[in-house]
Amino acid sequence: MFETLKKATLDKIFVLMAEYAADPRAGKIDLGVGVYKDDKNITPVMRAVRKAEQRILDSATTKTYKGVVGNKEFSAAIVDLALGNTIDKSRIRTVNGAGGTGALMILMHVLGRARPKGRIFISDPTWPNHIPLAENANLEVHYYPYFDAATRGVNFAGMMEVIDGLTADDIVLLHGCCHNPTGANLSRTQWDAVAASLQRTGAFPLIDLAYLGFGDGLEEDAYGLRKVVAAVPEAMVAFSASKNFGLYRERAGVAIAIARDSESADVVSSQMQNVIRGTISQTPDHGAEIVRVILEDKDLRAEWEAELTEMRERMGRLRVKLSAAIRQKSNSKDFDFIAEHSGMFSLLGLPGEVVQKLKTEDAVYMINDSRINVAGIPEDRVDELADKLLAAVR
Ligand code: LMR
Repeated sequence: MFETLKKATLDKIFVLMAEYAADPRAGKIDLGVGVYKDDKNITPVMRAVRKAEQRILDSATTKTYKGVVGNKEFSAAIVDLALGNTIDKSRIRTVNGAGGTGALMILMHVLGRARPKGRIFISDPTWPNHIPLAENANLEVHYYPYFDAATRGVNFAGMMEVIDGLTADDIVLLHGCCHNPTGANLSRTQWDAVAASLQRTGAFPLIDLAYLGFGDGLEEDAYGLRKVVAAVPEAMVAFSASKNFGLYRERAGVAIAIARDSESADVVSSQMQNVIRGTISQTPDHGAEIVRVILEDKDLRAEWEAELTEMRERMGRLRVKLSAAIRQKSNSKDFDFIAEHSGMFSLLGLPGEVVQKLKTEDAVYMINDSRINVAGIPEDRVDELADKLLAAVR
């Protein structure tokens, strides 16, 4: 049986994570996988999460099935968080996903059934997992330009040239905020233009929302997606609670479908449930229940928001410190973009051999496209990191 199989390529992000873990060097620096880290270099269990978990442990009476749609109260709280009052609830249907990736998997499979071999336009570059997710769902992957390598900003003219030419049969995958891997994000005016374009062409938006609250704030980060879903008759959003609730391994996410009307929404819901039942049968509930408890409780919610703010501000501070250290040492503004980007990542634009050298000689780990996770910058070693980066590019 197995002799017919070829070795599959593993995702570079998790390959790097394993390499980092196996590296015995004491001063190694991990700017790789996108997990938040605090000033002690650990990915903490958030305070509100710990309390919610304790409550669940104390009060749970059963672990029986929730049903195929999962934890409905969790989904409803996420719809409120992400969409506010933008859309009439009668047009929205939700199911839980196993993390944001699970939500994307469900939504893309439904789209693959609606448009077998349909074209999905993905930003170039993007999170690497978007590609197998789309291919596994019977969609054909195409790209729109996104990143301007010279300015390290968004190549908006290039992006719109493709977006404006889409048809009503096409799907466009947008990063709701905090673009992964670049860290370069659309301005409000640019989001307005994207929304107007989709309204005009009828192309279908699928929005990946994995970092809500990591950019400028919960409300601020929702601007673009709310603008888009308000402008079009149909859309989908994949929400992840991995980062903003620090629930990575619990796999908590929500697949949100917005249809023209309630009748059509019921059809989409049946398809989403059919995908779940035929793949994983039921979604995990522990993380979903934690988020439900937090969002439904005034105090826990305030505590969560405060910690999320601390995390966001810490990432912002690390951006400013690293770019300032590089500017001061090199007398150039070449890395100022790190402070201008937002979210968890910045794409440094370094050649592959420089990334490789930083890893082998300096034990500085970043993804091979030169994406850094800014939360991994050690605050007390910013100068040392700046020196290493500058020495490597010289
Ligand atoms: C990342 O981009 O590093 C994270 O989203 C982790 C992952 O699943 O790839």
